[in-house]
Amino acid sequence: MFLLPVLVSLGLLFLGTVQETNSFVLNDPPPKGALRVASFNIRRFGRTVMSRPATVANIVRIIHRYDVVFVMETRDASMESVRQLRVALGETQWNYTASVPVGRTTYKEQYVYWYRPDMVKLLHAHLYDDTPDDFNRDPYIAQFQYWSQAAASEVKVTFVGAHLKPDDVVKEMEALPNAIASAKRVFPDSEGIVTMGDFNADCNYMNGAERSTATVLNTPSKYNSYLNDFVDTTVAHDTNCAYDRLVFTAQGRSEVKVANVKVFDFEKGMGLSFDAAYNVSDHYPVEFTLE
Ligand SMILES: *[C@@H]1O[C@H](CO)[C@@H](O)[C@H](O)[C@H]1NC(C)=O
Ligand SMILES: *[C@@H]1O[C@H](CO)[C@@H](O)[C@H](O)[C@H]1NC(C)=O
Repeated sequence: MFLLPVLVSLGLLFLGTVQETNSFVLNDPPPKGALRVASFNIRRFGRTVMSRPATVANIVRIIHRYDVVFVMETRDASMESVRQLRVALGETQWNYTASVPVGRTTYKEQYVYWYRPDMVKLLHAHLYDDTPDDFNRDPYIAQFQYWSQAAASEVKVTFVGAHLKPDDVVKEMEALPNAIASAKRVFPDSEGIVTMGDFNADCNYMNGAERSTATVLNTPSKYNSYLNDFVDTTVAHDTNCAYDRLVFTAQGRSEVKVANVKVFDFEKGMGLSFDAAYNVSDHYPVEFTLE
């Protein structure tokens, strides 16, 4: 009679434990001093999202944790919603650089780097010249300059942001080394290359065998991959997928490195209801500091 409830609560306890270890929960923003960066797929960001004040307020709270945020899935060629979000973030403290809409079909997305001009200087931004046409959405490459506490000087760093196509993850992931090599050639004066984004690198789009042979996830001598397959970057409670990834390639001074890598569970971290969190996105941001 009492066995079933006991088993059920044991099962719930067990589930709870598994979720805790697989998704990082963080209430406090990353430590100040180093550059605070995040990569964030904000689902279908555009005018509809901007018409919901509660969701906008939550997006602003999340972006305000950082100094630079690479945002994927902006869908507003008019840029009206991007300009509105800049006002909501604080026009004098925040600026952005946005790509043109990218994608092979009529479905297109813009990539946006949001940044605080008092913390970083945007030097260049361009879409990767994808001559072999490996990518549905050509990665967006940007070079920033910031004050590195660890190097005790101004340094330059390159970001390669990409939202890989779910049905083509294996092929596009194998093309990332070419995009990274190109970034290295274009910006030889950077001290490192951060490759980040929603790679859709798990669950229905990439199986264990494919993950264990992907070059950027399995070549630590060249590509330092920070998030393993057991991390959950999805907001939904019934999914556990390590879609969003972070890879660092050393290029210059060894003091310039990635630290404090976390997946920010904003439902728990900001005390939101599931519905309010899911209104923001189906992905959590991946956050880190650049020392
Ligand atoms: C924002 O970026 C634009 C385009 O790069 C630039 O013209 C403008 O001066 C920047 N504004 C601030 C406040 O940094
Ligand atoms: C989520 O968004 C919908 C609109 O799509 C809205 O009706 C609902 O109130 C929102 N929920 C919360 C908790 O913000």
